[in-house]
Amino acid sequence: MSNYPVDLSVKPAVKAFFDPDTNTISYVVRDPASDACAVVDSVMDIDYAAGRITYGHADEIIAYIQAEGLKLEWIIETHVHADHLSAAPYIQGKLGGRIGIGDKIMVVQETFGKVFNEGTEFQRDGSQFDALFKDGDTYMIGTMQAFAIYTPGHTPACMVHVIGDAAFVGDTLFMPDGGSARADFPGGDAGQLYDSIQKVLALPDETRLFMCHDYGPNGREIRWETTVGDEKAHNIHVGGGKSREEFIRFRTERDAQLAMPRLIIPSLQVNMRAGEIPTDKDGRAMLKVPVNGL
Ligand SMILES: [Fe+2]
Repeated sequence: MSNYPVDLSVKPAVKAFFDPDTNTISYVVRDPASDACAVVDSVMDIDYAAGRITYGHADEIIAYIQAEGLKLEWIIETHVHADHLSAAPYIQGKLGGRIGIGDKIMVVQETFGKVFNEGTEFQRDGSQFDALFKDGDTYMIGTMQAFAIYTPGHTPACMVHVIGDAAFVGDTLFMPDGGSARADFPGGDAGQLYDSIQKVLALPDETRLFMCHDYGPNGREIRWETTVGDEKAHNIHVGGGKSREEFIRFRTERDAQLAMPRLIIPSLQVNMRAGEIPTDKDGRAMLKVPVNGL
């Protein structure tokens, strides 16, 4: 397929944490040969109606890492999420680790810097993050080599992170019966999403795939793990060799009917700052609502 440094002989232990409020799955990925671990796509709890932020979900992850005696090396965001708030800085404050995201974060910051009418103090250079990944970039988690695949389409900054035989797909794919993520946010593109999904499906069939979301379609129980082979055969949007044209037509029609995610307004403002809550001129934590701005 490519020059990505796939190594299926490395089999990290993966612990999932499901957040029922946003249907997000966060992960602790652990090196079997050391005490190193990484967190993928953490969640900070928000009661948006009350403007109240809490850390129950993140505290569960922190307690697990502490109880297992692990050393947190990385806090990875697969993309700027529009449906939940990242707890990356909170977790980093307790356990350390470096916060990483795709370098196209700058495109997302430029777009939503305008939407939220941010001033010049809002940097659009990705400097809120500790590491910005390009396609094919590698990094170490203990003795394991991880790499990032650039997978735009849902958003311009999406990346899939592959760690040994485990790939964290963010919002490129859902479980086979869930299909794929929407491609209609600013900077999204259905054709690009199809191409990105093909990159994921070009990984070896036995690669374990871990979803960022699951909504339990048709009343089934929540699930978050599948394989490349299973997605290729059964994914309802791209499986069985569906064509790019078919996918674009379907995705575009479907997206036109979807409402905005409930937490998109707070999520974008926080997540484009690597999970920091913006402050007003007096330094108070404060969120904006752009009227008819999205
Ligand atoms: Fe997303």
